[in-house]
Amino acid sequence: MAMITTVQGHIQKNISEASGTFGWLMSGITLATKMIEAKIRAAGLSDIYGAFGQQNVQGEQQQKLDVFANQALMNCLGTRESVAALVSEEDEQPVMFDRSLDTGKYIIVFDPLDGSSNIDVNVNVGTIFSVHKRLTWGSLEESVLQPGLKQVAAGYVLYGPSTVLVYTTGDGVHSFTLDPTIGAFVLSEENMKMPAKGPYYSVNDSSVATWPAGYAEYVQAMRDDGYSARYIGSLVADFHRTLLKGGVFLYPPNKHKAGGKLRLLYEANPLSFIAEQAGGKASSGTGRIMDIKPTQIHQRTPFIVGSKHEMELFEKAMTA
Ligand code: AHG
Ligand code: MN
Ligand code: MN
Repeated sequence: MAMITTVQGHIQKNISEASGTFGWLMSGITLATKMIEAKIRAAGLSDIYGAFGQQNVQGEQQQKLDVFANQALMNCLGTRESVAALVSEEDEQPVMFDRSLDTGKYIIVFDPLDGSSNIDVNVNVGTIFSVHKRLTWGSLEESVLQPGLKQVAAGYVLYGPSTVLVYTTGDGVHSFTLDPTIGAFVLSEENMKMPAKGPYYSVNDSSVATWPAGYAEYVQAMRDDGYSARYIGSLVADFHRTLLKGGVFLYPPNKHKAGGKLRLLYEANPLSFIAEQAGGKASSGTGRIMDIKPTQIHQRTPFIVGSKHEMELFEKAMTA
């Protein structure tokens, strides 16, 4: 029987922090995402499809699965002593816990369910998470608004034909596949590298007429260069394909969203950490995503992420 490595086993082996606190934290994430996966698998059989009937802080119609996923993560993580605060796309304010500096050491930021518009048509959706260390100075609010380069861990779960968890703690990118027969995420690949060049560009070009200078020319040059277009509309799925196959994903600013649509804290930052660890790059159009100092938890950013080759061409297109 082949030896298996679970997420907890991988963390024990690779994370120097002896207290096991971080491993315990990650077990909250794996537990919650297994609960979400179970709900998604049987979504058609239970009353989990459709709108929840309320809007979230983003003014978006919450789907029932958004609410379930958020509650699963809140319940599984809130009980972990090492969590000082939780930030969710679905909640206007962070959930702060009254824990001492040496107990509540981590801040977890997450998009509980990414790609909500795809839930009811049975297309891949995901969960994205980002972990920061609580600052030993200043307020908890300051700990929540740290730049992406301060992340101690980041990852996502992609609920698709198989359920895959991809994460980094700054020492390479590793993927795990949920083995439904034992209900555990099992190591499937270590030290994943994004191809230096890829065959795809990925963008919703319905707003091409309102993109800032340079974007349309950049995308047209790829069309002329024989790239294929792939756009799933679930960021986690579009990102995962870019990580495995290479190429570029773009969500440019447009006239409806001058600052871009995707959120810095729980979409762009975690995926940028993974992209950079895998040899790719991530840009806001004017700079490196992970250098951005956040000013509020739901702030948005233009998000362009992908292989070295396509990103260097993008940076040139932005300065042309
Ligand atoms: P969420 O479901 O968490 O709100 O995220 C949706 C995002 C992201 O998943 C995807 O890349 C993007 O919305 C798609 O936006 P468009 O439909 O405007 O292309
Ligand atoms: Mn999202
Ligand atoms: Mn979401």
